[in-house]
Amino acid sequence: MSWKSIAQEEEVIAEKAKVVELGDARIALFYTEGKIYAIDDRCPHVGASLACGYVKGLVVDCPWHHARFSLTTGANLSPPDFGPVRAYKTRIVDGMVEIDL
Ligand code: FES
Repeated sequence: MSWKSIAQEEEVIAEKAKVVELGDARIALFYTEGKIYAIDDRCPHVGASLACGYVKGLVVDCPWHHARFSLTTGANLSPPDFGPVRAYKTRIVDGMVEIDL
């Protein structure tokens, strides 16, 4: 495991969804159901920012064409199906969100 600190927990909770750039990657952080989840931000269909999507429970609905992704596994749950997004394990250490790269 390779944990990396990427955001303040307090900030993610307040904003509910936040994008963090990590090199060439964009990671979307979501606060829902009392926990912080992390998936790749770029929708594999045409690249919409999933952090701008609509969250219901542990699923985010892409804002452009409404593909739905699991926040826990990154699986695509509905069409258009261009595959999953990467999901990252998260943990909180000293008020900071860490993801397992
Ligand atoms: S860009 Fe996400 S479903 Fe089309």
